[in-house]
Amino acid sequence: MLYLIIILVIIYLSYKLIDIHTHDVEINRQSVYNDYIKNEIKILHLTDLHFDFNKKYQTKILNLINNIEYDILLFGGDYINHKQYMINLNEFLRKIENKKHAFAVFGNHDYQYNLKKINKIFSQNNIKILNNEYAQLVIKKNEVNLIGIGSPDIDKDDYNKTVKNLDLTNSINILLSHCYYIIEKENLNQINLVLVGDTHGYQINLPIIRNILKTKFDLKYTAGKYILNHLILIVNRGLGTIKLPFRINSKPELLLLSLENK
Ligand SMILES: [Fe+2]
Repeated sequence: MLYLIIILVIIYLSYKLIDIHTHDVEINRQSVYNDYIKNEIKILHLTDLHFDFNKKYQTKILNLINNIEYDILLFGGDYINHKQYMINLNEFLRKIENKKHAFAVFGNHDYQYNLKKINKIFSQNNIKILNNEYAQLVIKKNEVNLIGIGSPDIDKDDYNKTVKNLDLTNSINILLSHCYYIIEKENLNQINLVLVGDTHGYQINLPIIRNILKTKFDLKYTAGKYILNHLILIVNRGLGTIKLPFRINSKPELLLLSLENK
């Protein structure tokens, strides 16, 4: 009997621990400095929602978003795990309160579904999908070029064509895409900041699994902020899960980025 109780306690504690690792969203606050910033701008970046049946978790994310102050809202792709959850996505986007400057890109998994339908869901909720497109924004007297590039890991990117007619001098240039491969595929000379997701921070961040995933997907930048020669890359661990419905040692993340002058 005692053994049974011990086993049940271990199972319960393991469940609780995995639940914390999978659903305890961390708000990752980062600062990026840029000479062209006149007044501080706050960006909320979320990615890899991978919506499934778990509406309770989706509501939790929504409540977090609606309690954060930001100027720009960015979505990094991979929105659903099955087409039946488009309805959850629509409901979720509809309930986000601040969508004054809201933009999104497609992730590799989105291309499995009806892209037109995903695009429609975003546009009817006042969020513009930038699929190899740019937006020129003026926010708090700052000139910001936001460049949204299709998922580069499956060759949906077309950076050069996207920026061909865009003047990238004397402005803050932010590139939004799903995967960091874009920094290896293109010379992003004039880009200041690249925001991506895709890696889930390995999702199951344990040594053996981490090494397998690292080799399989050639993951060089897995999570966090990387200061490279001329740009800053931030890899967001994302919010959802793929294949296995849990995370270990890679908590879900909302990135709250503050762009400031030095
Ligand atoms: Fe993903």
